[in-house]
Amino acid sequence: MKFFDLVITRQSVRKYLDKPVEREKIERCLEAARLAPSASNSQPWSFIVVDNLKLKESVAIKTFDRVISFNRFSLQAPVLIILISERPSFLNKVAEAIKDKQFSLIDIGITAEHLCLQATEEGLGTCMLGWFNEKGVKKLFNIPLSKRVELIITMGYAESNQIRPKKRKSIDQIRSYNSYRL
Ligand SMILES: Cc1cc2nc3c(=O)[nH]c(=O)nc-3n(C[C@H](O)[C@H](O)[C@H](O)COP(=O)(O)O)c2cc1C
Repeated sequence: MKFFDLVITRQSVRKYLDKPVEREKIERCLEAARLAPSASNSQPWSFIVVDNLKLKESVAIKTFDRVISFNRFSLQAPVLIILISERPSFLNKVAEAIKDKQFSLIDIGITAEHLCLQATEEGLGTCMLGWFNEKGVKKLFNIPLSKRVELIITMGYAESNQIRPKKRKSIDQIRSYNSYRL
């Protein structure tokens, strides 16, 4: 797919077919994620791929509860990818402190989008989840408390391939040349 078509075709998928995802496809998505740029090339990320049915259910139930249930659809996704932000390099920690900027979170966003765009190229749907019980997920995998689980990405074959119109601000609302005018 041409890059812009990929951008248009990627959308958050919240309904999945009951069809397993080939490991080769998952590996290519992870390879795209691995090659993402990061501040000082610190690559402050790691990924847990969960495609074991029982384990996947244990993760999925950490993404919703009786009150806030919009992520219940994750139960249906054949694969869940847990994205952990690893300790930034010493250089990055210093840079983050001096500049008061969390570079590692920017890096996580970039790698996550690389992964999702490659998934689109593979004919797969994804949805990034930022809302989940982080402590509960850490406990399941013995992830140290000092680490952060930043995102869970659902992955699988979409129930429908229809592309929804994108709800976005108009270009006039967000762009200006040579001045700031918001
Ligand atoms: C950091 C981040 C966290 C998100 N968290 C959730 C989530 O917890 N549940 C969900 O259903 N969608 C979540 N989304 C998906 C957004 O709602 C979605 O990307 C946005 O509405 C635009 O729609 P589109 O992805 O279909 O283009 C998240 C997206 C991002 C980038």
